Amino acid sequence: MLSYRHSFHAGNHADVLKHIVLMLILENLKQKDKGFYYLDTHAGTGHYRLFSAESEKTAEFVEGIGRLWDRTDLPDEVQRYIELIKKLNYGGKELRYYAGSPLIAAQLLRPQDRALLTELHPADYPLLRNNFKEYHNVVTKRDNGFQQLKATLPPKERRGLVLIDPPYELKEDYDLVVEAVQEGYSRFATGIYAIWYPVVLRQQTKRISKGLEATGIRKILQIELAVRPDSDQRGMTASGMIVINPPWQLENQMKTILPYLTRTLVPEGTGSWKVSWITPE
Ligand SMILES: C[S@@+](CC[C@H](N)C(=O)[O-])C[C@H]1O[C@@H](n2cnc3c(N)ncnc32)[C@H](O)[C@@H]1O
Repeated sequence: MLSYRHSFHAGNHADVLKHIVLMLILENLKQKDKGFYYLDTHAGTGHYRLFSAESEKTAEFVEGIGRLWDRTDLPDEVQRYIELIKKLNYGGKELRYYAGSPLIAAQLLRPQDRALLTELHPADYPLLRNNFKEYHNVVTKRDNGFQQLKATLPPKERRGLVLIDPPYELKEDYDLVVEAVQEGYSRFATGIYAIWYPVVLRQQTKRISKGLEATGIRKILQIELAVRPDSDQRGMTASGMIVINPPWQLENQMKTILPYLTRTLVPEGTGSWKVSWITPE
């Protein structure tokens, strides 16, 4: 069953948080000349038209990147993220296109870096392949993303980032992310792992944090932005990124920009944020 299509959600508040964290980690990896490997296990299509039938139907981007687009008071880190998206919009004033995680990353890769993008959806995979056919250091594969940690780690570069961003439409995804990280970490303990998660029911989200805690892996940072308090009603109230082996700057960078993001993305005043360690060093 693959009914989730990211085009309905592209550019929403969860994408904003995820893609800023992704950009900050990649910027950090680029501080050393040596190349790195980027694995995007659940890639989506990489590029979204915000005025497509899908995006317009939900218009989630309006309350996501739409709330940052025209701001003139952006913190530096958020400004750099907006610049990446502006490049896809021909530097223009109008917000028409949005980048998925593969395109955020591809814009930041240098010739010595490389990426593997996997996607399973029969309609989305051909779009992904087409969007990256001219990138020499990006490979796309129609395959199960969870299996790529076993299949491709450790990378020959011995440096890298794995982004795990499943749709969680199948409840087992909450356990599969923990198993995949455990598998990856046993092969490549110095790698950076970033797991995106939604908060729909807090108990489900806790399966990931508790599961990771039980692995004994150290240095696990949790970053979360809520648009509403937890609820047992339908719908996503918050989302976050769990980062294993985060660059040391990430904690403070996020503590600096999250108050701004929360105020700006949630002007209704119901938002909140947190940055805390699931397990410290
Ligand atoms: C949340 S979206 C990814 C969004 C993307 N990472 C981004 O930030 O732009 C999740 C994607 O995973 C795909 N998918 C679901 N199960 C998968 C699996 N086992 N392996 C690879 N892709 C999968 C879905 O088709 C969907 O496109």
